[in-house]
Amino acid sequence: MHWLDACLPLPQPNRIQHLVPAVDILFASSEAHPLVKTGGLADVSGSLPRAIKNAKQEIRLVLPAYRAAVASAGSLNKVTELDLPGTSAPVRILQGRLPHTRVRLYLVDAPEYFDRPGGPYSNPEGNDWPDNAARFALFGRSVCEIAMNRAGLDWKPELVHCNDWQTGLVPPLLSLESEPPASVFTIHNLAYQGLFGRAHFQALDLPPQWWSMNALEFHDQMSFIKGGLIFSDWITTVSPTYAREIQTAEFGCGLEGLLKQRSARLTGILNGVDYQVWNPGRDRLIPHAYTARTLRLKLENKTALQEAFGLPVKTDVPLFGHVGRLVEQKGLDLIMELIPELVQRRLQLVFLGTGQPQLEQALRQAHQRHPTKIGVRIAYDEQLAHLIEAGSDAFLMPSRFEPCGLNQLYSLRYGTPPIVRRTGGLADSVVDADGPSLYAHKATGFVFDNAEPAELLRAIDRALNLYAQQRVWKDLIETAMHEDFSWTRSANDYVELYQRVLEAHRKNRESVHQAPPQDISGVLI
Ligand code: ADP
Ligand code: GLC
Repeated sequence: MHWLDACLPLPQPNRIQHLVPAVDILFASSEAHPLVKTGGLADVSGSLPRAIKNAKQEIRLVLPAYRAAVASAGSLNKVTELDLPGTSAPVRILQGRLPHTRVRLYLVDAPEYFDRPGGPYSNPEGNDWPDNAARFALFGRSVCEIAMNRAGLDWKPELVHCNDWQTGLVPPLLSLESEPPASVFTIHNLAYQGLFGRAHFQALDLPPQWWSMNALEFHDQMSFIKGGLIFSDWITTVSPTYAREIQTAEFGCGLEGLLKQRSARLTGILNGVDYQVWNPGRDRLIPHAYTARTLRLKLENKTALQEAFGLPVKTDVPLFGHVGRLVEQKGLDLIMELIPELVQRRLQLVFLGTGQPQLEQALRQAHQRHPTKIGVRIAYDEQLAHLIEAGSDAFLMPSRFEPCGLNQLYSLRYGTPPIVRRTGGLADSVVDADGPSLYAHKATGFVFDNAEPAELLRAIDRALNLYAQQRVWKDLIETAMHEDFSWTRSANDYVELYQRVLEAHRKNRESVHQAPPQDISGVLI
């Protein structure tokens, strides 16, 4: 039996399942745990559909049939073949189940695009595949064929839920249909927009009128994400704060005008956590499972973590962990600027991540200079990520922006108070340990406002200070561990939203889908 199968029972039936009719939903994503993962999108796509299914909706998941996904999907059968523009051979639709769930899975099998080594977006050397526009256009076309019940699956969803730019062509393609399902487009990260030169647009043989600032054109490039933002019935993003932030110039990546214009149909729903995977009480990826009542076992994980990174094993030295993509978004540069200060203090730091070469290099150098204080692993390592959550005393996540963020939610559950910037989902999930919140037993971490090293340092010093007061620290940990960010509440919010979207779609289809795209000149800067 897989360890996941032995974990928690499925979430309880939720409060609204008897109140709303079941909706048929096609959930389209470019990654889903445990099939293929580069970041949080995979965690969400691997767990939200199951939570929605448990809320008695009929939801099916569709993904590209990457080599790695096919290898880990278990038994698959070919159900149908499609002839689509842009491929030399028919595209096959493979059917199976998302592992450890009852969610039906479709894999879009176009070997010339997806049967490759490397990641979903990049080759084994880490460079983007040069034909990404064609790959995700084909994926979008296949999703559209399934959505229109032209893929021989004998099923027509009422709503297609698209995620991030890789699915951005689905809403515009559906807009060309006479009876399209409704569409929701979720922004997981507005900074990734799927931008390609005009030659790519021409090669994709899309309607020429889409080369317009009212459709896919964005500063003389084709923008996949604009397709989702303009043509979907509803836009969501992964936290209420990020939903507000992306309507401002600071976070809107040039799309704030458009998002403001659509703000009546823009909703922020905080991501949930899959507590079957991220649960210190049942985690088989850590050496010592523990709960809030057996915190001494957390210390054993700390020892294992120090050993894994070759750091001196000292349980009383505060240990700060970081896991993440090494990109500007995550604010790692703020931590790097502080290294000379931090190594003066009695603490240890461990880092796990891959990403921008200069950040990888800076981390390696920091380790070489301070081998007894700083442990670094440049790798993608799921087991080590769990050990860092379990074995660290606090988790560093000073993101410059963070649509939701999952690591801070995992940290809370693992009793590893997160140190975060007040932005996006971090602001919506961590309660700063100031005097009143500590007194009220509501504090769960440390929050600072501006992306300045000095502010981060103050937050770290506050953490060190509280760490020294073991009773207060224990109280902080226990409060954090009892926070509940399970999917149930957020899945209910999605189910309720689907109802609203269907209603709006029914009422407004003519104006939303059939009229020419609205004139948004003047709102895009
Ligand atoms: P993002 O999606 O922006 O990368 P999130 O916090 O939403 O950030 O999710 C990141 C997910 O990817 C988490 O599950 C995290 O543990 C995982 N992750 C990121 N980098 C690594 C790594 N180097 N090794 C293992 N897991 C990683
Ligand atoms: C993105 C965001 C992250 C979010 C994840 C899942 O990768 O950067 O904040 O948690 O998507 O929605």
